[in-house]
Amino acid sequence: MVVAAERRAVMARPQASDKIAPIGGPGWERGKRKVASVELRGLSKRYGAQAVVDDVSLSIEHGRMVCLLGPSGCGKTTTLRLIAGFIEPSAGEIAVGERVVSSPARTLPPEQRNMSMIFQSYALWPHMTVGENVAYGLTLRKLGREVIGKRVEAMLATTRLAELAARYPGELSGGQQQRVALARALIVEPETLLLDEPLSNLDANLREEMRFEVRRLHDEYRYTTVYVTHDQSEAMTTADLIAVMNGGRIEQLGPPEEIYDHPRSEFVARFIGSSNVIKGRALDAEHLSLAGVALRCTGGRFTAGADAALSVRQHDVRLLAAAPTGGQENVVPAVVLRNVFLGASRDYMVETPDATQLRVVTAPAHNVAPGTKVYVYLPPQRCRVLAA
Ligand SMILES: Nc1ncnc2c1ncn2[C@@H]1O[C@H](COP(=O)(O)OP(=O)(O)O)[C@@H](O)[C@H]1O
Ligand SMILES: [Mg+2]
Repeated sequence: MVVAAERRAVMARPQASDKIAPIGGPGWERGKRKVASVELRGLSKRYGAQAVVDDVSLSIEHGRMVCLLGPSGCGKTTTLRLIAGFIEPSAGEIAVGERVVSSPARTLPPEQRNMSMIFQSYALWPHMTVGENVAYGLTLRKLGREVIGKRVEAMLATTRLAELAARYPGELSGGQQQRVALARALIVEPETLLLDEPLSNLDANLREEMRFEVRRLHDEYRYTTVYVTHDQSEAMTTADLIAVMNGGRIEQLGPPEEIYDHPRSEFVARFIGSSNVIKGRALDAEHLSLAGVALRCTGGRFTAGADAALSVRQHDVRLLAAAPTGGQENVVPAVVLRNVFLGASRDYMVETPDATQLRVVTAPAHNVAPGTKVYVYLPPQRCRVLAA
């Protein structure tokens, strides 16, 4: 059964050379813990004719958290399972530190990788208490009862589960189960932590809180972490680096600010959210025509005469009641199609005379009825050239 296999595999088995110091106990030297770099080199996984993971290269430094972000079906889980060693690559290889752990020729089994993986389903043992679930990986390592007891106690305190030690998973909320899964994965001190949409079973409030918790634990222990999610804000809260995936490939890799402010493709601009994509023909290196207005765009350069696209965020577009006097650049006439009050903001859909629709986010007090003629201002420095 897959879940049972996953439950067992959650726990990295020790290497002969491993010396495990009790957390917080004597010999616990956080600064000296091993943390592995993880490197994917031209990694591909094909099922039949479909390349589910397609020539992915990614280098993750020691102790960093990288987020694989992308829509459902883009190959995130498959990439994670390749890293964990549950499946073998069709091409390319994975190295942890100096050691190649996966290649089409040879794949090191999951239990020899010193990795912990947290599954979307948590995969807790239902017949074990919280304390026993957390202790499980150490029990496999045949550590002494006293050592296990101390480390479990310290880990339960860190993950704020001490009061729940005697409960069974069925007696816990989603958030509590999620913390047990984290505690159980962390207690074996993996070199690498793999998380597959770990918060997707939680309700919205708890999900937000747990994002910070995941990041806090990462900062405390500094594992090399690969975090998979389809949620943009989850990725932005937790990751040092975001790899945006599309159709089995990494479409853009960078720190959250860069991905957000400088999406390089239409896919990234749309997926990272809240961007309008405007398509047309480039008039010259700086201008794209929209509804007869030459939009100036300072974020990148167009190829004159070619089909081109730019992105501009919904909240960077200004909604104006009248055209500014003095003929300001980048102002386009439009009609309000839709105005939705969202409490902290208003979400508009407007349409230009050439039928381009733009989303605009404004302050909640800025209330303009549908059907009203308005102008939109697209600040040149907020317009980004997208790769063709
Ligand atoms: N064992 C498999 N056999 C065939 N196709 C698979 C298998 N596992 C995954 N896929 C396909 O690979 C694609 C990517 O899946 P997955 O990695 O789970 O995506 P994600 O986690 O990003 O939602 C999907 O189209 C899925 O149907
Ligand atoms: Mg998945």
